[in-house]
Amino acid sequence: MGLSEADALDVDRIRGDFPILEREFDGTPLVYLDNAATSQTPEQVIDCISDYYRTYNANVHRGLHQLSQEASIAYEDAHDRVAAFIGASGGRKEVVFTKNTTESMNTVAYAWGLAELGPGDEVVLTEMEHHAALVTWQQIAKKTGAEVKFVRVDDEGYLDMDHARELITDDTEMVSVVHVSNTLGTVNPVSELTDIAHDHDSLVFVDGAQSVPHMPVDVEAIDADFFAFSGHKMCGPTGVGVLYGKERLLDAMQPYLYGGMMIEKVGFEDSTWHELPWKFEAGTPVISEGIALAEACDYLDDIGMERVERHGEQLAAYAYDRLSEFEDIRILGPPGDDRAALVSFNLGTVHAHDVSEILNANGVAVRAGDHCTQPLHDKLGVTASARASFYIYNTREEVDELVEALDQARELFA
Ligand code: ALA
Repeated sequence: MGLSEADALDVDRIRGDFPILEREFDGTPLVYLDNAATSQTPEQVIDCISDYYRTYNANVHRGLHQLSQEASIAYEDAHDRVAAFIGASGGRKEVVFTKNTTESMNTVAYAWGLAELGPGDEVVLTEMEHHAALVTWQQIAKKTGAEVKFVRVDDEGYLDMDHARELITDDTEMVSVVHVSNTLGTVNPVSELTDIAHDHDSLVFVDGAQSVPHMPVDVEAIDADFFAFSGHKMCGPTGVGVLYGKERLLDAMQPYLYGGMMIEKVGFEDSTWHELPWKFEAGTPVISEGIALAEACDYLDDIGMERVERHGEQLAAYAYDRLSEFEDIRILGPPGDDRAALVSFNLGTVHAHDVSEILNANGVAVRAGDHCTQPLHDKLGVTASARASFYIYNTREEVDELVEALDQARELFA
């Protein structure tokens, strides 16, 4: 769909859906620019959670009573709804609800990695991976004797694809790549990476924590073998994440967590597993959270993901331009017209925590720190950065407020 100016988001209307945006601090309105950490929640999703607890709260799969049946149908349907949102044609069988992206990552690392990896095998990551991938595969490699290798990030913040082609070989069993860097804002060529990996019979795990909330994503077009994301970064609640996996792969994997709900038949000596996806959802699952995540998908679909993407890109480009006006600001990552909806930066030698405190005093919420990418920050020669990250309710005026508040930080610390 080609978007015209008339297709711009109605930000005023959208802001009306988010009660938290009415907050003020001593008369200063909240400017919430920490959406890559967690997005805010619209009334529609809050009402969905409230409706669940007010009218049909019950455990799923187990009961024959009316409430349990209602909760079960809503919970199971939520898997189909989320599957449709990311283009997974297998529906619920390919969508496991987890706690978050990290747990989705660990599920594959433990369920697939421990069983399949061994000495001589290689797992290829990138230098811009979030700790969720980096630490997880690092530790699985230690347990299995596999080796982890890292595709270089170049000076502009892009993956060095020549290096990727060198590193991915017939010894590679898994390529784990972040779709959108939570620090650099780089949008990685994941389809190209799946092509390279599949030519060497390697699987690919895509970390979509920063892509699914911000752009149309089709896991089958990408040809990802596994794909993960979190509800709380896309207008949904905390406590629910998603693991997509191709059905034949999930089917062949042993469960990672054992217990109730995930079994078919249990004996004193051995047990068998429930069908997909339930064999990966041990214990009482994330019922209200999963149902509310599906509501969040509906909310975003109603707005239109192409519109969401364009709005985020435009704000990031505007922020990039405004911040580039200052010689003492170093922006991390690619040019303003080629990045997702976030900008990480440093102001001179002022520590990012100090920058964030001054911004906070002006009502502007950003994240400061290493954003769970310590090795990437080391490579860039900084210990930390401040990060402004945007979503559907942010405006250019809010970017201007960020820039004005940075003036104060400059005056105080320069
Ligand atoms: N991984 C999340 C972030 O980048 C928490 O802020």
